Amino acid sequence: MVVDKPASAGHSDASNGKTEDGLKVTKPARPKTKSDASTDACHVSEATSDHSHERELESPTPAQDDGHPAGVCGPILTIDDVPQRIRDTEYAVRGAVVARSWELAKQLRDNPGSLPFSEIIPANIGNPQAVGQKPIAFNRQVLACVTNPHLMDQPGLFPADVVSRARSYLKSFPSFGAYSHSKGIPQLREDIARWFTKRDGILTDPEHIMLTDGASPAVRTVLELLLESSRDGVMIPIPHYPLYSATITRLGGRAIGYYLKEEDQWGLDMGELQGALDKARQAGGRVRALVVINPGNPTGGILTRQQMVDVVEFCEREKLVLLADEVYQDNVYLDEKPFVPFRRVLADLSSPLELFTFHSSSKGVTGECGVRGGLLHAHNVDEAVIEQLYKLFSISLCANTLGQAMIASILTPPEPGSPSYDQYTRERRAIFSALQRKAILVHRKLNEMKGVSCQRVEGAMYAFPRIELPPRAIEAARQAGQQPDMFYCLQLLEHTGVIVVPGSGFGQRPGSLHYRMTILPEESKLGGVLDRIKDFHDQFLAQYS
Ligand SMILES: Cc1ncc(COP(=O)(O)O)c(C=O)c1O
Repeated sequence: MVVDKPASAGHSDASNGKTEDGLKVTKPARPKTKSDASTDACHVSEATSDHSHERELESPTPAQDDGHPAGVCGPILTIDDVPQRIRDTEYAVRGAVVARSWELAKQLRDNPGSLPFSEIIPANIGNPQAVGQKPIAFNRQVLACVTNPHLMDQPGLFPADVVSRARSYLKSFPSFGAYSHSKGIPQLREDIARWFTKRDGILTDPEHIMLTDGASPAVRTVLELLLESSRDGVMIPIPHYPLYSATITRLGGRAIGYYLKEEDQWGLDMGELQGALDKARQAGGRVRALVVINPGNPTGGILTRQQMVDVVEFCEREKLVLLADEVYQDNVYLDEKPFVPFRRVLADLSSPLELFTFHSSSKGVTGECGVRGGLLHAHNVDEAVIEQLYKLFSISLCANTLGQAMIASILTPPEPGSPSYDQYTRERRAIFSALQRKAILVHRKLNEMKGVSCQRVEGAMYAFPRIELPPRAIEAARQAGQQPDMFYCLQLLEHTGVIVVPGSGFGQRPGSLHYRMTILPEESKLGGVLDRIKDFHDQFLAQYS
């Protein structure tokens, strides 16, 4: 991850090109390049002696733009040809720890009993249905009907409200196998606009909503609007979900990190934001926007209303567009810390600030990551800019229509008194209350471990515990050529089968070490998983103390 560091950023570790917090600052050693390749594969087969090789080099064949003599064969696409911004792009959630887990999973299959654990527990990614969460029936039934309308002809197969919902979708969009409008199926956007209107108390125009294949492409497309050159920057929280740093790097922009305040439930520190912004501007950057993830990934924190007001005023003052990632708005576990939409705060302040918000079917209590439907909503945004967004989405024609139906049906659940209502409410409550209990359990058990401190999991699906490692462990990591948090997470995997993600993948303050763990493993297993982590942790400390 390449991120402009706040003033307090750490020293770089020359041995591996990373700063203490793991953010990449230099290029890694490169694999074989075009020039290496063109002197072996192609030329060796043609040049039978040193002499003929010389002749070939002296030949008058004109060079092409790419430096290859015309007609000389050789790889056209080598690692050197891949744009630097792509090579610099990093995404830790599926990094080295996950790669090693695949090897261990294979070993468990091929040679059961050869490892100190019998299964791999993926606690690295917010993918609820991969770890046993059941889908909510209503949404899936609606999708079944729009996918195969004949099912609706079978009396009693589906509840009447499922059938009427599916029929209403099909009435406006008769075949879900067709491309839809590039902003999304109009009727679904109208339903979603009504949901927004009710949630925020602000009349919502369906033309300001775009349905996407999950929040990720929505975020990428908005960032594309904002980044013109390598001078252009977007402020992102540290730690943060690395979609942002990865996409900004991929688009050739500048990620400007601002640290969250760990000791304050990972809240916002306005002095820190101001410092990061001023520093980026002094360095010649053109700062365009600010990203807030609320509830937070990987932090599990929820912003207070006052912090949100401060952010809005900051963005107004500094002329920054606000990007609010609200994909975890239904994952809110404490009554005293409710979720407040940024749009609502803007309305309360009568703010003209431009705001893009993102939502997704992947999170909440539905966890429909594989049937991804996402959306972006543009608030106070110039119509001509919305036209440009529409154009960008139209390049890929449309989002998957089933994902569109998924996010629409999630946001317009069965009404009280309708045939599906009771089952829907039961399923939703069961998932939500399990998440709530798991959030408390993970927080408590992590804090019981020596040298581990973890802020409350107020929302989202993650704990981000801070770990103090003994100097001998840091030295062992250095000798292994790994960041200390990576070393710890790899050791944890080898001993317990539990996959977590090193904090450096999300960014962390220099000198501090963390990892991200999801709260998602099944409730029946989670206590045991945490006990295994504790046993490992105690042994690790004993070994390196
Ligand atoms: C904060 C945040 N934003 C966006 C996404 C992407 O979600 P989607 O699956 O909708 O692309 C994630 C996924 O984990 C996330 O945590």
